[in-house]
Amino acid sequence: MTSTPGEWDIVTSVGITALGVAAARAIETHREDPLVSDPYAASFVRAANPPNPMPTTPAEAAVLADHQGLWVLNSAYMAVRTRFFDEYFLRATGEGVRQVVILAAGLDSRAFRLAWPSGTTIYEVDQPKVLGFKQDVLDEQGATARGTRRTIPVDLRDNWSAALLGAGFVPGEPTAWLAEGLLPYLPPDAEQLLLDTIDKYSGPGSWLSVEQPVDMARMLDDAQVGDVATQWGVDIRSLIHDDDRPDAKDTLRSLGWEISDESAADVARRYGRNLDDELDRMFAVSRYVIGRRSQ
Ligand SMILES: C[S@@+](CC[C@H](N)C(=O)[O-])C[C@H]1O[C@@H](n2cnc3c(N)ncnc32)[C@H](O)[C@@H]1O
Repeated sequence: MTSTPGEWDIVTSVGITALGVAAARAIETHREDPLVSDPYAASFVRAANPPNPMPTTPAEAAVLADHQGLWVLNSAYMAVRTRFFDEYFLRATGEGVRQVVILAAGLDSRAFRLAWPSGTTIYEVDQPKVLGFKQDVLDEQGATARGTRRTIPVDLRDNWSAALLGAGFVPGEPTAWLAEGLLPYLPPDAEQLLLDTIDKYSGPGSWLSVEQPVDMARMLDDAQVGDVATQWGVDIRSLIHDDDRPDAKDTLRSLGWEISDESAADVARRYGRNLDDELDRMFAVSRYVIGRRSQ
């Protein structure tokens, strides 16, 4: 069991993982056939100025000789993951959902990138300093959200629902929730609280989507995860909670959600991305879960 510190900013502890994801999206944006195009990702990385530089283009990644492999894998994985959850939100809002909650939003710029139907409100939940940094960069860029965007600066290990309600969230309305890149950093009781809160406040017609780790032990053993420690200066393994916990899919099914899931590797193949052995190993660590509630 790990002990994650109480608060962090964008270049420390779990905060820097959000920056690593932004760098991966920036690299993907500069590829010839990108799965996602994120015009803000590189600005976040430049503004954060992390202790060890993070690349924002394939060319910059190529000169980081020792760590090039890490960035190739990181950007390949994050591209597929981001595209999958982009499509998830477009499906949910296409079917009438107008309330969206992005848990552990980090430097997710979907509020600014996606074609949300008019009347959509997007709630972004994360640590105060992460959201503060993000806002400063977005303001500097003159970014305008494509829906109503509200930020909820909280710790998801605490009871966070009051802050969400206080920001205007309407309980019982059809809602689309997302927990992407979050569960490994939550202790089991916080994951349970998260699932219970989603369930409690979701009306009929709601959706949820979760990136679910498959094999935490394998993730902790992975050489690339170890490489992150050297490159980013933060030992991600010390932040990951690998305690036994109920399978989130079973919990959600028992609460009445209709659940489907797909391995990250299958999603990548569906998007036409070829996986060599190393990529296949990386994509094997998680599944993408979608839940729907009809009643
Ligand atoms: C790997 S990043 C993912 C960010 C974003 N979902 C994405 O995919 O770009 C993990 C994020 O989880 C947030 N996070 C982790 N534990 C949290 C907690 N207890 N409370 C609030 N945010 C948390 C971090 O601050 C960070 O922004």
